[in-house]
Amino acid sequence: MLEPALLPTPLVDCTDEVFARAGVELRLKRDDLLHPTVPGNKWRKLAPNLAAAVEQGHTRLLTFGGAYSTHLRAVAAAAGVLGLESVGLVRGEELADRPRNWSLRAAEAAGMRLEFLTRAAYREATGRAAGDGPTDEGTVDDMRRRWGRCLVLPEGGSNALAAVGAAAIPAELPDLGERDVVCCPVGTGGTLAGIAAGLPPGARALGVAVLRGGEGYLEAEVARLHRAAYGREFGNWRIDHGHHGGGYGKVPAELAAFAVRFEHRHGVPLERRYVAKLLAALTDLAAAGAFPPGTRLTAVVTGLPDPQDTP
Ligand SMILES: Cc1ncc(COP(=O)(O)O)c(C=O)c1O
Repeated sequence: MLEPALLPTPLVDCTDEVFARAGVELRLKRDDLLHPTVPGNKWRKLAPNLAAAVEQGHTRLLTFGGAYSTHLRAVAAAAGVLGLESVGLVRGEELADRPRNWSLRAAEAAGMRLEFLTRAAYREATGRAAGDGPTDEGTVDDMRRRWGRCLVLPEGGSNALAAVGAAAIPAELPDLGERDVVCCPVGTGGTLAGIAAGLPPGARALGVAVLRGGEGYLEAEVARLHRAAYGREFGNWRIDHGHHGGGYGKVPAELAAFAVRFEHRHGVPLERRYVAKLLAALTDLAAAGAFPPGTRLTAVVTGLPDPQDTP
């Protein structure tokens, strides 16, 4: 079991004039405080997968990520804590001979072995690994030949068990009802899928896509995860596609400035590529009157800032 540092995570009111003017309440669910090296949605999604891995007698985890993947770092850290081996397949063979960036260095320092794949090989490998539930060695033959018996976690860690893990977030929010919208950033959709599934009747979930061009694809992913985890689809959620800030990993100057202002005003450190996009989107939507007065928004702070995010 990957012990959390803090559970349930704090729920704090966030008084902000833009929201107040719109008659909307904003609260922050501080999942960033869940665990120091496996924070936020990483812990929510990994904990049930790791419990299953240990139960099934796995001693090695294999997963995927880009050069700055939070998921890779989190899997490396979690595996280290649990005494499991970990292997990370990294997108971009050109990175193999370059000095490691801070993120890959952290993954290696936690004990992860890295292998660098061409973009084509990476696409193929992640595509095959993207199943429902943890993929075992029987379904991923090349990886088995190369790495032996291992539990394969999909890119971003989103699978059926991950969604079930994220469903605990709304379960920690008391008295949710008609006026509530629980909000999170969307990368691969696992966190949103879990939040939507864990809501009581009447409450809704809103995801903010952090990547450009995800319309249709991300909705299909969330629906797929719902079928895989719960055997049915849910109609209580939607994804906003208008606040990706130019695309995955992009942090335009305007967004960075918003994040700095928010941090000063509210004293909450904001991870830029996901959490700042979420809060900027909610601010924008509230100012535009997208939420009826009386709405109560709960924004899930799904991660910790990267080292370079804070000056
Ligand atoms: C801080 C943070 N928030 C949100 C997400 C997106 O979660 P999901 O991939 O479940 O949509 C990620 C994904 O890596 C993340 O690192």
